[in-house]
Amino acid sequence: MEFFRKKEYGDVKTGLKRSLGFWELVFIGIGGIIGAGIFVITGQAAASYAGPGIILSFVFSAIAIGITALVYAEFSSSFPISGSAYSYTYATLGEIIAWLVAWNILLEYGVAAAAVATGWSGYLRAFLENNLGFVLPKALTGAFDPSKGTVIDLFAFLGILGIFTLLTIGIKESAKINNFVVGLKILILLVFIFIGLKYVNLENITSNFLPYGWEGVWTAASLIVFAYLGFDAVSTLAEETKDPQKTLPKGLITSLGVSTILYIAVSFVLVGMLNYKEYEGKPDALAYAMYQVNEKWVADFISIGAVITITSVMLVMGIGFTRVLYALSRDGLLFKFFSDIHPKFKTPYKATITGGIFLSILAGILPLKVLAELVNIGTLFAYFMVGVAAIVIRQKKDYSPLFKVPAPNILLPLNLIFLLLIMAGLPLDTWIRFMIWSFIGMTIYAIYGFKNSILGKQ
Ligand code: ALA
Repeated sequence: MEFFRKKEYGDVKTGLKRSLGFWELVFIGIGGIIGAGIFVITGQAAASYAGPGIILSFVFSAIAIGITALVYAEFSSSFPISGSAYSYTYATLGEIIAWLVAWNILLEYGVAAAAVATGWSGYLRAFLENNLGFVLPKALTGAFDPSKGTVIDLFAFLGILGIFTLLTIGIKESAKINNFVVGLKILILLVFIFIGLKYVNLENITSNFLPYGWEGVWTAASLIVFAYLGFDAVSTLAEETKDPQKTLPKGLITSLGVSTILYIAVSFVLVGMLNYKEYEGKPDALAYAMYQVNEKWVADFISIGAVITITSVMLVMGIGFTRVLYALSRDGLLFKFFSDIHPKFKTPYKATITGGIFLSILAGILPLKVLAELVNIGTLFAYFMVGVAAIVIRQKKDYSPLFKVPAPNILLPLNLIFLLLIMAGLPLDTWIRFMIWSFIGMTIYAIYGFKNSILGKQ
């Protein structure tokens, strides 16, 4: 079947410079992982779904995503090429699946950038309000919702436009800036944990640990899995990494491991400091908790730090988005237009501008929760297909990756089951949006990609 034609990736001759080592990868990984998930969604998920049980939600999604990271580590050691999930599935499951995976990764990076922008906007508003007394008119402070009197989240809209303008001109995060931002990010979370510990009242946790039962823990896990996404961005840098077969698996696992430890500690302190219900409708939960216990300077530090550091997630996700659009276009699966390179800036500027316009509108009019759930389902689908690819590729006789998932007979099926469970925890609306998105994707493939595929023409 031609839809399932597979791409052979022989030795990759890359034109890119191999300059990234282990620590750079870890910092880029953390740069893409830690963002709106922990700073914004944790508080809301605790308030509405899990209560103090949010700590368990973090542990559950860490286990599921941890196994997926091992699978990515294995693939990155055997296919050290930049397309990540798209290339892994193109080589093993065939073009139509790879297209669907890429179409959903576009959703991951693109909508994640928009989602993160709305979280960023919440912290920025709180900071301006608490320090300069500057209050935006209500209509400009939230997603389109006539019942609440909000029309557009102005800062989220402008944030995405700003980031994509930078991306068009080609301002890349230099390793130094990224290291600074990630260092700041880790410092903020450590300050929150250590200062917050003083105010933890175990009563807040133990008196009503599972107010919404296990189902609430599960629903929250499906939502906060968002906080772990982005580790896969590391594997898109395969062609820029030194000794990628060894460095990539280590980099992936370390960045996820560090983030997980921080997340579990932060969520413990958060629900320990205040009653979980207090976080209802608070987009800046970590800072809010500190304001409530009168640690004003810590709260300000967290707010301003979150604004600075969440910007890096927007940037990493924005780069990921344009890179996938560009790769698809180069392989003939999407319109040629998207791989046009700007003569002076050397960036795929048409892909970037189109993405910027589209995503800034999404960021402005949709609430964070809807965006995050949409990102999660698309990404989990991509992770799932990569998990299937890991099982399929084992049928090949000469398959010998440098890094192997341990106990594959147990962990590989378990990976698929966990991912399905997390996906099943997402609301029906999200599934419907996912189906519509995938349907649009399949239609584009049927009328355009199938005929124009470079692989198909060979
Ligand atoms: N994991 C990223 C975040 O939490 C998407 O912002």
